[in-house]
Amino acid sequence: MSKLDYNDSHWRRLNLPHDWAIEGDFYAGNPSGAGGGALPGGVGWYRKHFKIGYPSMYYIEFDGVYMNATVYINGHQLGFRPYGYSSFAYDITRYLRSGDNVIAVRVDNSDQPNSRWYSGCGIYRHVWLTMTHATHVKHWGVQVVTDAKKRRAEVKVDVEGRNYQVKHTLYDGQGVAVAEATGVRATLNVPRSSLQLWSPETPYTYQVLTQVMVDGAVVDQVWTTTAFRDFRFDAKTGFWLNGKNMKINGVCEHHDFGCLGAAVYEDALHRKLTKLKAMGVNAIRSSHNPPAPELLNMCDTMGFIVMDESFDMWRRRKTQNDYARFFDQWHERDLTDLVLRDRNHPCILMWSIGNEVLEQWSSAEADTLTLEQANLILNAGHDASTLAKDGEMSVNTLLADHLADIVRRYDTTRPITAGCNEPSPGNHLFRGKAIDIIGFNYHHEWIKDVPKNFPKRPFIMTESVSALQTNGFYKMPSDNIFKAPKEWWMPYTDPSFMCSAYDNMHASWSSTHEQTWDVVKHTPYVSGQFIWTGFDYIGEPTPYGFPARSSYFGIIDLAGQPKDIYYMYQSEWTEKPVLHLFPHWNWIPGEEIDMWCYYSQADEVELFINGKSQGVRRKAAQLPDQSSPVTATEYHVMWRVIFDPGEVKVVARKDGEVVREQTIRTAGYPEKIKLTKDYEGKDLTFVSVEVVDKDGNRCPWAEDEITFIGEGDGGILASDNGCQTSMERFTSPRRKAFFGRCMVVFKGKGSITAKSPMLAPAVINIKN
Ligand code: GAL
Repeated sequence: MSKLDYNDSHWRRLNLPHDWAIEGDFYAGNPSGAGGGALPGGVGWYRKHFKIGYPSMYYIEFDGVYMNATVYINGHQLGFRPYGYSSFAYDITRYLRSGDNVIAVRVDNSDQPNSRWYSGCGIYRHVWLTMTHATHVKHWGVQVVTDAKKRRAEVKVDVEGRNYQVKHTLYDGQGVAVAEATGVRATLNVPRSSLQLWSPETPYTYQVLTQVMVDGAVVDQVWTTTAFRDFRFDAKTGFWLNGKNMKINGVCEHHDFGCLGAAVYEDALHRKLTKLKAMGVNAIRSSHNPPAPELLNMCDTMGFIVMDESFDMWRRRKTQNDYARFFDQWHERDLTDLVLRDRNHPCILMWSIGNEVLEQWSSAEADTLTLEQANLILNAGHDASTLAKDGEMSVNTLLADHLADIVRRYDTTRPITAGCNEPSPGNHLFRGKAIDIIGFNYHHEWIKDVPKNFPKRPFIMTESVSALQTNGFYKMPSDNIFKAPKEWWMPYTDPSFMCSAYDNMHASWSSTHEQTWDVVKHTPYVSGQFIWTGFDYIGEPTPYGFPARSSYFGIIDLAGQPKDIYYMYQSEWTEKPVLHLFPHWNWIPGEEIDMWCYYSQADEVELFINGKSQGVRRKAAQLPDQSSPVTATEYHVMWRVIFDPGEVKVVARKDGEVVREQTIRTAGYPEKIKLTKDYEGKDLTFVSVEVVDKDGNRCPWAEDEITFIGEGDGGILASDNGCQTSMERFTSPRRKAFFGRCMVVFKGKGSITAKSPMLAPAVINIKN
C-alpha cells in the first residue's frame, strides 16, 4: 500500500486531521478497554497524491500521528515514529518526481491498551508540505529568548546553505516594526515606549520575522510569536508574574474534543479555551504529553500559562503496550523535539518531565495490573522501603536528572517540574537536580509540611481535586461526602452509573473542589494548582467500568456544558458577578431537597419557595466542622427545603439592595425542542438542545431521542449529551436528551432541524 502505483481508487476520501476510532461503536471487547474509551484501535493507511510545481526543497511535517507512524514517499520508507504525540518532519526532496507523487502513512494502534485515556487513532493533527529554497531556515531552527527587564529579544537561527545574510524584524501587537537586527545571532532592543508585557489578563504578543537572503533577495522567512514577561516561583510567596503575586488557577486537559474525538479542530479548541477563560482559568497543563501546536498558539494569544508535559511513563509501564516499550530508544529524541518545537511559545512557563512515573519509587511494578487497576493504583501509598535513603542517588534519580539535562540543553529560561504522587522527600525524583519546582499530584494534606520537607524550594500542585460529577445528577444529603471508591483497591458500584454534581463526591486519593481550593487559596507558598480536569474526556471512567466510557472528573462535561461547580470557580477567580442556584425544581412533592447557591459581589442571599422565605444565608469564612447540616462554607450556601411545585427564587443583596436574582420553575410536560447556539466558530457551530415545556422551562428528567437533519454545505458532524454511559455513536445524528439536554455539532453553513416523535420540532439557521 506504500507503492506509487497501488490502486487506491476505491478508498474512502477524507480530510485531515482525522481520527478513525471516534467513528466506531463502544464495545466492552475493544482492547482499549473502558479506560481507553472502549473504542476500536487497529491499523490504518492514508495516501495522498500530489504534483509538484517546480524543483525546490520539500519537507513533509506531521504535528502528530497516533501511533507507530511509518511514512513513505513513492514507496521509499522515510521513517518510523512510535510516540503518538511527537511532531516530526522528513526531507522528501530527493524522492520526488514530475507527475504523480504519493505519500503513504501506515498508522498502527493495534497493540492495546497503550494509554490510560482515549488516544484516538490516525493522523489526528495537521500535516504540512513545505516548499523552500535550497538555502533556508532549518526545521525549528529559530530560537527567540526575551528578557523583559532588559527589554530585548535574543534571536538565534540555524540556516541550511551558504553565502546568505539574515535579518530579523520585531513587530509589536499592532504590526509596527519596533526593532531590527542582522546575523545568525542577533539582539533586538525594544524601545521603552513600545514595551508591553504579556500576562493572562493582557496577552500582548510580538512577532519576529526572520528573513534569509541570498544576493539581496529574500529566499526564506519564518515568523515567530514571542512576548515579554518576567516570572518567578518563590518558596515563600508562590508565583510572581511581572512583579505581581498571583495564583496559577489551572486545569489539566487531555487532547480529545469529546464527540469529535482526537482530531484537531481549531474551533473546538477555541471553544474549550473560551469556556475555561470565562470560568477564570489562567493556566493549562497539557496532560500528559506534548499538545497540538494550535493549543500553544491560542494560549499565547488568549492568555493562558502552560505547563508543557512530555510523558506519562518512563521505563516502567502503566499499561501493557504503552510508551515504556519505546522509552529507552526514543526518549532523548522525543523530549528534544518537544523542547525545540515549543520553546518559543511565551505561554509556556514550566516544563514537566513526567506524570506520576513509577520511577518515583525503587520498586513499583504495574506489570500485572489491568488498565483499570493501573489508573487506580497510581495514587496508592507506597511502602517506605521503596523511597530513597538519605543521600542516595539511585538509578531513578539519575534518570530524572538525565531528562532534565536534555530539557536544559535547549532551554534554560523555564523551571522544570514533574507531576509527583509520592509527596515525601524520599521520592527518587526529588533527590537530584532535576526538579526546580516541587510538584504534587493530590496529597493536599501534605502541603503544610512542604517548607519543612523541601526547604527553600518552590511548590505547585501539578494536579489536584479529581472530584467526580455527572452533570445534572444530585446525591443527597449534599453535605455528606461520598468517596468512590473508598480505597483504591475496593470495587465501587452504583446502579445509576452516575456521580453527584453537588461538590460532594471524589475518589479515595482526591478531594472536593472546595477542599483543595481552600488550601491553595490560603497557603501563600502554593504557587497554584492544575485541577483534574477542565473538561471531561473520553476514557478513564473512574469510579466505574464499562458501560461507563468517559470521565466524571471534568468541571465541564464532555458535551461542553458547564457543571454547577464551574460557577464556584467563576465566583472565586473572576470579577464577574455570579449567582448560580441549583439543582432544578422538579421533584416529588414533599421530598427533602438541598438547594445550593454560588454567588459573588453580594453580602447575602435569600431563598424563596413560591414567595415564602427559606432564610438568608451568607458564606462562612471557614470551612465547617462536621456540624450538620452544613448550610454555609467560604464558597457556597445551602438550604435544606421541602419541595413544593412552583418556583424557587434566590435574591442576592449588597448593602441591603437587591443586585441579582434567579428563578427556577417546575417544568410541565415536555412539549418542544429548543435550539440555541452554544459556540459559533469559523467552521464549526455547536448548538445546545433542550427539551422544554410550553413555557420554555427545561424538563430536567426528559430523555427523548432527538434526530438532527442537517442541510447545507457541511452537515451534522457529531452529537453528545454529556452522559458517561451513553452507547450512542458520537458521529450519530441522533441523540437522547440527558437531564433534558444535549449538544449537536454542525460544519459549514446551513440549518439544523431537530425532531422527536412527542415534541414540536425546531429549526436553527447557521451562518445564514
Ligand atoms: C492521576 C493521574 C491522571 C488521572 C487522575 C485521576 O493519578 O495523573 O492521569 O488518572 O489521577 O484521578
